[in-house]
Amino acid sequence: MLGSMARLWQTVKPIRIRLYLGLLSALTASLVALGIPQVLEFLVNRLDTGATAATVWTGGAIVLGLGLLEASLIWLRRVFAVSPSTLVEKDIRVRFYAKVQHMPIAFHDGWGSGQLLSRMMGDINIIRRWIAFGMIMLVTSSVTIIAGLVLLIRSSWILAGIFFLAAVPVSIIAFRFHREFSVLSRRSQDQNGDLATTIEQSVQGIRVLKAFGRGPTALEDFTAQAEELRTTEIRKATSMARFDMFMFMLPELALGVSLFVGIHLVAGGHITVGQLASYFATATLVVGPVRMLGMLFGQMVNASTALDRHYEVMDEDNTITAPETPAAIDPAEARGAVAFEGAHFRYADAPDHVPDVLDGVDLEIRPGETMALVGVTGSGKSTLLQLVPRLYDVTGGRVTIDGVDVREMDLMDLRTLTAVAFEDATLFSDSVRDNVLLGADPTLDEAARDELLHLALRTADATYAYDLPEGVDTRIGEEGMSLSGGQRQRLALARAIAAKPAVLLLDDPLSALDTRTEETVTGRLREVLQGTTTLIVAHRTSTVALADRVALLDGGKIVDVGTHQELMASSARYRWVIANQEEERRRDQDIETLTGELDLSALQGGTEQGR
Ligand SMILES: Nc1ncnc2c1ncn2[C@@H]1O[C@H](COP(=O)(O)OP(=O)(O)OP(=O)(O)O)[C@@H](O)[C@H]1O
Ligand SMILES: [Mg+2]
Repeated sequence: MLGSMARLWQTVKPIRIRLYLGLLSALTASLVALGIPQVLEFLVNRLDTGATAATVWTGGAIVLGLGLLEASLIWLRRVFAVSPSTLVEKDIRVRFYAKVQHMPIAFHDGWGSGQLLSRMMGDINIIRRWIAFGMIMLVTSSVTIIAGLVLLIRSSWILAGIFFLAAVPVSIIAFRFHREFSVLSRRSQDQNGDLATTIEQSVQGIRVLKAFGRGPTALEDFTAQAEELRTTEIRKATSMARFDMFMFMLPELALGVSLFVGIHLVAGGHITVGQLASYFATATLVVGPVRMLGMLFGQMVNASTALDRHYEVMDEDNTITAPETPAAIDPAEARGAVAFEGAHFRYADAPDHVPDVLDGVDLEIRPGETMALVGVTGSGKSTLLQLVPRLYDVTGGRVTIDGVDVREMDLMDLRTLTAVAFEDATLFSDSVRDNVLLGADPTLDEAARDELLHLALRTADATYAYDLPEGVDTRIGEEGMSLSGGQRQRLALARAIAAKPAVLLLDDPLSALDTRTEETVTGRLREVLQGTTTLIVAHRTSTVALADRVALLDGGKIVDVGTHQELMASSARYRWVIANQEEERRRDQDIETLTGELDLSALQGGTEQGR
């Protein structure tokens, strides 16, 4: 806990002076408040010995003045601490976003998106409240308690002793509470994150859940998870309530005993009535911070848990970084020769006994060449593609572009050199234009951008975008959900083309298209991509046949390279893979034709329930 708090202290460096000023205001306010009972003591003692009206008025005015001063100081504390703390909150949040954005795909494979979301929003909010309020108030309360105790001793050491005695169990209870509460607090924050992950996933997968009638099951699972969180929250509240009870009871008890003893002391002439009055006034002031200590302890525990969760993410190592002095490359001048040299890759979570997904891939793609990558499903084609822009790093061997290891390059350079159309066409809820021009040269003027947009849309046969309600400025729904699968896929392809990369990586970009559209797109791609090195994962013979050469990935290795005709003639394995894929496609088409002819209305009655 101390470790993360110390790190936070480093983080708030830019606002430390203002925090000190806030602390100073808060401390002065407390001391001023403690001054009031001293005036009271003076007044009450004077009443004993016959006070004039003037003394009473003066005393009253002083008390009023002190009260006003205290109020202004409390206001100042807010002025000093609140606005800079929001600044730090923003900084921490932006840094967290940058970190998450910067981390490689492997990191995101391992972290639930809801965990990141809750750390990003909830935890950082808790940290801010701790900086602006908790941290300052904890110091202030502690100082007030100490100063108050000194004043109490001054009033009467016997009465102060009674107050002290009550403080011993308070600190024991506080220590035990802290231990219990930190475990619960961590659990609750983690469960919050898991809950967010579940919400995120079901919102994303809402179609699947509905279509399979899994809504009720999903709700059950969610309810169970929410119930778990509730149990934790209740245990947290119970623990807090127990602590609070002692925090309220013990000081009250001490005051009661003090009153009893105090009256005897006054009667015996050991202390004056003024001293007793001042004792009670001071004690009442000290009781407030003593009680607050419980809440502040809770806040501190929450904040340090939030900090731990925050630093857990911030401390994750990013292995995909550029060297200090990256190889000098001009993306505009690149030829785009890609080579895999003994490339190995295995996913971090792969069990020991399975061989590497890529088990020594050797492949050369000549500048400007279109190479098709063929292999059975799960053979590692998508994985291989992702090694080029370093979405994953090889675990052995190397990948080069124009002879330079991709790990030697500046990451921006590398990602300008390459563009990818992924298997799942992820789009952003933004205009068609902005989606397609996402990776386009930002220095182009308006006209050139329009021209590029048109070229990309035409090549990908996505000119349907011009007919959308607001043309290419139509905002497409979240993750492009308002478009059909084929429409989405063609926009994703257009996006890769518009980036004008030297090396284009297409992961089965035409899978959702019918044969005729596919042929149109393949033909146009060939025209436009003259001179662009292209590695295209292909399932259909029509796409494969248009490639200059084909590489067959099998058992983690490239086992055959050549033209489609050559491989058909020479490689039995290739004939087998192609025949398999053709058959799969025929089956798909048969199903399409079949379902087109069937009367589906008979099926509907039975499936409508539970959706
Ligand atoms: N993020 C991941 N973490 C762990 N293993 C993965 C991950 N992605 C893929 N794999 C595994 O790596 C292997 C290769 O997957 P990959 O997606 O590269 O296959 P593919 O050839 O593209 O298949 P398809 O033709 O079905 O798209 C598979 O066995 C898969 O289970
Ligand atoms: Mg794949």
